[in-house]
Amino acid sequence: MQYNTIKDFKLNDKTVLIRVDMNVPLKDGVITDDTRIKASLLSVEYALNNGASVILMTHLGRPKEGEYSEQDDVTPIANKVSELLGRKVQVVDNWQTEGIDLKPGEVIMLQNVRFNKGEKKDSDELGKAYACLCDIFVNDAFGTAHRAQASTHAVAKFAPEVACGLLLDSELKNLEKALSNPQKPIVAIVGGSKVSTKLKVLDKLADFVDNLIVGGGIANTFLLAKGYKVGNSLVEASLVGDALNIINKIESRGGHVPLPSDVYVAKEFSDSAQATLKNIADLDEDDQILDFGPETMSQLSKIVDDANTIVWNGPLGVFEFENFAQGTKQLAEAIAKSKAFSIAGGGDTLAAVSQFGVTDDIDYVSTGGGAFLEFLEGEVLPAVGILLK
Ligand code: 3PG
Repeated sequence: MQYNTIKDFKLNDKTVLIRVDMNVPLKDGVITDDTRIKASLLSVEYALNNGASVILMTHLGRPKEGEYSEQDDVTPIANKVSELLGRKVQVVDNWQTEGIDLKPGEVIMLQNVRFNKGEKKDSDELGKAYACLCDIFVNDAFGTAHRAQASTHAVAKFAPEVACGLLLDSELKNLEKALSNPQKPIVAIVGGSKVSTKLKVLDKLADFVDNLIVGGGIANTFLLAKGYKVGNSLVEASLVGDALNIINKIESRGGHVPLPSDVYVAKEFSDSAQATLKNIADLDEDDQILDFGPETMSQLSKIVDDANTIVWNGPLGVFEFENFAQGTKQLAEAIAKSKAFSIAGGGDTLAAVSQFGVTDDIDYVSTGGGAFLEFLEGEVLPAVGILLK
């Protein structure tokens, strides 16, 4: 992919508008995970160190367009950026009507872009309004690169210059490295609740991986497709045909979809539910599969150990519940120990990686959720497409 990065421009005395993805989780106005904010600072610091003034813009949550909502106000984010940069970052609310008075070397943040009418519809008019604020538009928002919206897409049509930010560049390069010429054996791990949301990515991965490890509700649907009774587990019975097609596609290339032979089940979905270990053939009608068992995990750990490339999206079990965290924990540890080039992405996966303390042992941890999946599906992300030369 050919694009300019922020490093290809002289930034001295320029105004740089950086679209970041600082859409971080907040509880009662307090940021509970600042990974995305920290990851976005590289480009901001680069611009400042090279003499630019910086306007930041991000979305937060999914507010109703055209309306202000306090819970999606970006002030806590701007405060966090201030703290990390060690300089004041003011939030500008009415920039469309009152304009911006930006001093040289200053950093400001526009109020949540999703409060602006036309943002989600990728309005040219709004894109132009953003573009008029700057000399160079830098997109550094990998997490939102799968959305063609005014602050990620239309703005790039009208800005005097466009560039890829350092985080976006690093995400694209690392994901490309894992996918364009991956060293075999390749293992993909796709967990999570539903096959339907990940059907496209599963189908794409089936074209080239040697082992596709499925977890969570996805594994249940695959088990059902292979004729196992899954009791009262989360399952998408209407997708067993798709699951079988994926298994057949991989097996016809000599690959495997290893399914669990033992699982932890419970009678209810709750963090206090008792975990009972069962052979997969012995489930009762009221059993819910909530984690993988030790026999399965030793088989999966061996597969991970033998791999040279690992792509991980989604947990194996309900790792938020202590009694059902073991499978995902063992998987995270096996990936951390493995010699393979490993990448992980997606909201739940990042939470698991952080919960089990393996962030530093995975070669690349992506800040993207939906964007990570769409990249794996082989899509050119629209916000990246518009930056291409
Ligand atoms: C994310 O959290 O995946 C991104 O910030 C995109 O958010 P969205 O799904 O609300 O567009």
